[in-house]
Amino acid sequence: MEIVIVPDATAQGELAAGAIADLVGRKPDALIGVATGSTPLPVYQALQRRKAEGLDLDRARICQLDEYVGLPAGHPESYREVVRREVLDRLGISDDRFMGPDGSAEDVVRACADYERTLAEAGGVDLQLLGIGTDGHIGFNEPISSFGSRTRVKTLTRQTRVDNARFFDSLDDVPQHVLTQGIGTIMEARHLILLATGESKAEAVALAVEGPLAAIVPASVLQLHPHATVILDEAAAGQLK
Ligand code: F6R
Repeated sequence: MEIVIVPDATAQGELAAGAIADLVGRKPDALIGVATGSTPLPVYQALQRRKAEGLDLDRARICQLDEYVGLPAGHPESYREVVRREVLDRLGISDDRFMGPDGSAEDVVRACADYERTLAEAGGVDLQLLGIGTDGHIGFNEPISSFGSRTRVKTLTRQTRVDNARFFDSLDDVPQHVLTQGIGTIMEARHLILLATGESKAEAVALAVEGPLAAIVPASVLQLHPHATVILDEAAAGQLK
């Protein structure tokens, strides 16, 4: 695992965007897995700047990591809509180059299996961006998720719902359930880039990077990945030894 500590979120965004630009240079139709939440936004902004300067994303493909269950299609906080706003619209990527699990499906179990098939048929994820929850989750694989898990329905912890309540009118509006790529699914991506900023992530980062491998800290599984890069700002790195 490679750990890179940078001064701030802007530098973090530039570094991750650089890795994506290099990948697309080598493989124009690369499948890039994006995360939602606040942390990766500077990456998408940096990519938008690079695109304005000539980065060719005309064949790049985007896939989603996770999704809330039960929000109606088109809900502004559904991750499909967030990815549309923050990634697809910014980067001029059309719907036919985007894939995600359907959290509004009547049969969500089937939607998970369908998404696993979609990713496999697309040739697998080349580079997956990840954030980290304050409880150590990646995607929405909450503590004690199996390291072998595949895309499935999960129940959010209260801590994650409280953390995400800032995107909704109230805590009660944050869905209880989600669909998430499993840890086993995430680990099949050819390159993982985990981003963390701020003091609130420092404990989870230290446990993930320096603690023992443990299902109670889902992000610790990155220690097993052959190509994992962790990009931290100084505050998120604050509890590393
Ligand atoms: C979202 C996701 C989550 C977030 C994590 C951190 O797609 O996969 O694991 O990355 O909850 O969220 P922020 O970046 O908002 O602190």
